[in-house]
Amino acid sequence: MQSISTIGVLTSGGDAPGMNACVRAVTRAAIYQGWKVYGIYRGWEGLIGGDLKEFTTESVSSTIQRGGTILKTARSEAFRTPEGRAKAFETIKRYNIDALIVIGGNGSLAGADQLAREFDLPVIGIPGTIDNDLYGTDLTLGYDTALNTIMKCVDNIRDTATSHDRIFFVEVMGRDAGFLAQNSAIAAGAEAAIIPEENTDIDQLEQFIERGIRKSKNSSIVLVSEKDGGAMHYAERVRTEYPQFDVRVSILGHLQRGGSPTAQDRILASRMGVASIEALVEGQRNVMIGVKNDEIVYVPIAKAIKIDKPIAKELINVLSILSI
Ligand code: F6P
Repeated sequence: MQSISTIGVLTSGGDAPGMNACVRAVTRAAIYQGWKVYGIYRGWEGLIGGDLKEFTTESVSSTIQRGGTILKTARSEAFRTPEGRAKAFETIKRYNIDALIVIGGNGSLAGADQLAREFDLPVIGIPGTIDNDLYGTDLTLGYDTALNTIMKCVDNIRDTATSHDRIFFVEVMGRDAGFLAQNSAIAAGAEAAIIPEENTDIDQLEQFIERGIRKSKNSSIVLVSEKDGGAMHYAERVRTEYPQFDVRVSILGHLQRGGSPTAQDRILASRMGVASIEALVEGQRNVMIGVKNDEIVYVPIAKAIKIDKPIAKELINVLSILSI
């Protein structure tokens, strides 16, 4: 097994609260092993362009509480090409980087997997995305913070929804997954969640709306995943089919992705960052660090990105029972 003395760390794809706490943990755990650490800027773009800097323990001081990513991030088109990946590997060789830690979502980890296979490079992935859509881990970095942000926004929307007797469709992120919509609906006491994992037809919509109205508050809040046209689409359908209702849409957008990470995300980021270095020490490669039943696990990256992560039926049941 090739011994490791230098690593690179990058964040890629959509930023997520907790990424900085994770970069901090990776940096300090690597230095603790006596290794050299390079912080690579703007994800794969920085690796291709040679935009990196040696990190010390001080480089990551006072970052645990900050949202976004101090390393910056990007969605790289160039890295999708063989030429782009060859350039990225040239940088790795030039700086004698023995292994790479990649913090990001599905697309970023797919890129990591490809680079690792093409150039026989040890890569460890860390799931950093508010979408919580990676298989093999109960949680991803940033998910809990985003969930809390959405919950607070829906609490505010409820004030105005009840005052005006309105039906609100609140659209949240999540890409192809409904974890944010489903769990924020439970946390905010909404009437329903429309998620890609479940089919929603107009009759179900009527049922959701009537639940809100029947509760004598004459208002209703439905959380909608961004996929399939999102909130606008459902609002239009309800306006057409039920003109008697006063319908509004609120698209939360990127405000869901910012902000200081919650304690849970900071702890998760710290644990996963340390685990990524321990994984390399143990000789692991091409695995994603996950957490299952509060224990650190290693998931082959290929599995984490390819298998769909299911939403527990129990969560759907809970919302359904509690919104009667
Ligand atoms: O993957 C994180 C995420 O925030 C998704 O929920 C969303 O669909 C997407 O990124 C938005 O990407 P961008 O910031 O590039 O518009």
